Amino acid sequence: MKEKQQPESPDLKEVICFCFGVELGAIREAVKKNNYKGVEQITRYCAAGGGCHGCQPDIRRIIDEARQEFGLDQMEAEKLEQAEKKSGSLPAIKMIRLVEKAIQEKINPLLKNEQIQVSLDEVNGDIVILKTNNELSPSLLNDVEAILKQDICNSIELKII
Ligand code: FES
Repeated sequence: MKEKQQPESPDLKEVICFCFGVELGAIREAVKKNNYKGVEQITRYCAAGGGCHGCQPDIRRIIDEARQEFGLDQMEAEKLEQAEKKSGSLPAIKMIRLVEKAIQEKINPLLKNEQIQVSLDEVNGDIVILKTNNELSPSLLNDVEAILKQDICNSIELKII
């Protein structure tokens, strides 16, 4: 007896592409192994979808489900973020958003006891200029810079006005 309703245990032997006899398991494996995103990639790999095209919507759905199940999109996003951090070439708008997040979540809470508050004045390449209502000690300045470098980009240069 086959329980076809269970999404957790798909029948990997189920034929998806009847033109070429390609099974569900082969398509899922191709997505996992090669990080495929498009139906045409599957067609090039194993011909599925390249005949009558009738199975293409199913292949599309299988790709989306497999990518989610294997965490492929999440992995790509993390890799991209790491690469951006290393390269020090974050787009300005992203840099601004990350600096504001760091200020709100880490920097201002850290400075609260000293009754100091900072806000973003300007981002110019890797130079981040923060405004403050009170002077920061050298050690606090180091802490703030360390937060920005750790959370956003190692090449950040901090200036306080
Ligand atoms: S059933 Fe897949 S191409 Fe025809």
